[in-house]
Amino acid sequence: NRRVTVHDLAGAKARGEKWPMLTAYDAMTASVFDEAGIPVLLVGDSMGNCHLGFDTTVPVTLDHMAMLSAAVVRGTSRAMIVGDLTFGSYQEGPVQALRSATRLVKEAGVGAVKLEGGERSLAQTEALVQAGIPVMSHLGLTPQSVNTLGYRVQGRGDEAAHRLVRDAKAAQDAGAFAVVLELVPAEVAAEVTRSLQIPTIGIGAGPDTDAQVLVWTDMAGMTSGKVPRFTKQYANLRQTLGDAAKAFAGEVVGGAFPAEEHTFH
Ligand code: KIV
Ligand code: NA
Repeated sequence: NRRVTVHDLAGAKARGEKWPMLTAYDAMTASVFDEAGIPVLLVGDSMGNCHLGFDTTVPVTLDHMAMLSAAVVRGTSRAMIVGDLTFGSYQEGPVQALRSATRLVKEAGVGAVKLEGGERSLAQTEALVQAGIPVMSHLGLTPQSVNTLGYRVQGRGDEAAHRLVRDAKAAQDAGAFAVVLELVPAEVAAEVTRSLQIPTIGIGAGPDTDAQVLVWTDMAGMTSGKVPRFTKQYANLRQTLGDAAKAFAGEVVGGAFPAEEHTFH
């Protein structure tokens, strides 16, 4: 009964096996995905939007991340748990990155951390890997930079595509064990995937990456309003949960709940 390791994921790439990753922000949901056999769960700073009610990932703190990562670790026994380094918790340099990542490893028990940026996060990646902390890199649309990038497809055009390949190689050379590619053209993601020995994980990056990640609330139809075109809704939990709440409310108001079998005498 051991958790998925970076070696398992390297083996999957060598064998040409694709694998899924989902986000999780709490123990109960994480346990569902763990039982479903999802090998890697990301405690993404998308918790800002999906769990904490912020508009972006920017306000999420390392305290938020440590608390929810610990819950996800407690709720699972098999998946590799990856915790996002939050905005402002690694940009100062390798020392700060090491302090933040160490906290997530020791306090929350995550098996790996993720940080945004290739070349710009090179020193941080090297420091963490040297300390024995597996690092997942995140390239393309990096939501912590929403104020400079907006939410647009990245890596369009030769220049930007080359920069993305360079960033991915920099992450690999620094020792990253995987690279997330968010919102990039499928052709560019395919080229990055061919160029790397380590697995690529796509989100809005077409079908040719080694793995695919979705934000669980989008994937399960829990998110309200419009979801990005690259996501797919495999359930309509928002409807199901809303219906359950309305049914409960109706039975309380009508006096049907609690019935005799729910009652002690
Ligand atoms: O925070 C997050 O959910 C992520 C994934 C979209 C890769 O970083
Ligand atoms: Na993230």
